[in-house]
Amino acid sequence: MEYKIAVVKGDGIGPEVVDSAIEILDLIGERYNHKFIYKEVLAGGAAYDAFGDPLPKETIEVCKKSHAVLLGSVGGNKWDNLPKDKRPERAILGLRKELGLFANLRPGMLFKALEDACPLKSEIVGEGFDILVVRELTGGIYFGESGIRETDNGPAAYDIETYSEMEVRRIAKIGFEMAMKRRKHLTSVDKSNVLESSRLWRRVVNEVAQDYPEVQVEHMYVDNAAMQVIRDPGQFDVLLTTNLFGDILSDEISMLTGSIGMLPSASLGQTSPGLFEPIHGSAPDIAGKGIANPIATILSAAMMLRFAFDLKEEADAIESAVNKVLDAGLRTADIRGKDEDFLTTQEMTEAIKKTI
Ligand code: IPM
Ligand code: MN
Repeated sequence: MEYKIAVVKGDGIGPEVVDSAIEILDLIGERYNHKFIYKEVLAGGAAYDAFGDPLPKETIEVCKKSHAVLLGSVGGNKWDNLPKDKRPERAILGLRKELGLFANLRPGMLFKALEDACPLKSEIVGEGFDILVVRELTGGIYFGESGIRETDNGPAAYDIETYSEMEVRRIAKIGFEMAMKRRKHLTSVDKSNVLESSRLWRRVVNEVAQDYPEVQVEHMYVDNAAMQVIRDPGQFDVLLTTNLFGDILSDEISMLTGSIGMLPSASLGQTSPGLFEPIHGSAPDIAGKGIANPIATILSAAMMLRFAFDLKEEADAIESAVNKVLDAGLRTADIRGKDEDFLTTQEMTEAIKKTI
């Protein structure tokens, strides 16, 4: 089979880690007889520098015509002072909207070999944790009406959180479908003691739950959830939540794994090509040094094989190679112990390729 992949290398360490993921995909292609055809396009700071626009039309068109999008990371302090519509973040938000990517899947699990990197005490971590954050990605406050109005107290800025039943229903369905494939437990996170939008959220989640009687459903306020993921992360299976809460909680959970350089993500729509990217940022401080951890992007490529192309065996092969390499004690700089040796981006990529 031939698969067309739009590649957005992005800024900072993006190009380095995406190159690694492509090497892995090419090896998988050879092994399993698939052809991956890449088309590179610009987005983020790189696109702003080249065209004065963080998300050029051509990028959107190429992404729409592909079977999937592989993205490195965008942004960096270089572009921090640009006006809102020119900032690299607009590229990410714009791609999500243009491609209709309303579901963001962010796994946060503790890799056995990296247990020591988890900042929690071992009695709390127990047998480890494996959480799937299902974050709504094209609604809520990030896409609501916003502006500045004059008031008696001077200018006042506002950002509005809105959720329609349709938006909640479709993301809830994804959450329940994921729960069915996992441990059949779903925690929906909201702030329904205060927010009207959260009350609607909770009501619709309960309605969707009727179709999934096997899934155990729980509701949790976001402030409590922020505490519970630190108090007892093992209690969560699928954590379903809004755009804003999911943004924050997924970063919190990523820290518990002790290794933000390890975590992939998938953003999916109804019919559009999915977008796959590491959850870490562009890390401008280490860009170009060849020491970035490529694993999050390599695992994002594995998610692409699994969710966009339905290539389960191939995805398993990558994930198991990553685990083996970690079990063998190989580390990049970000996950090494004090005074331990570390591999460069390229060396880690080679090690994973040899293990596949
Ligand atoms: C993320 C990022 C984005 C978000 C930014 C870059 C707009 O932080 O993917 O979590 O907040 O959604
Ligand atoms: Mn974020």
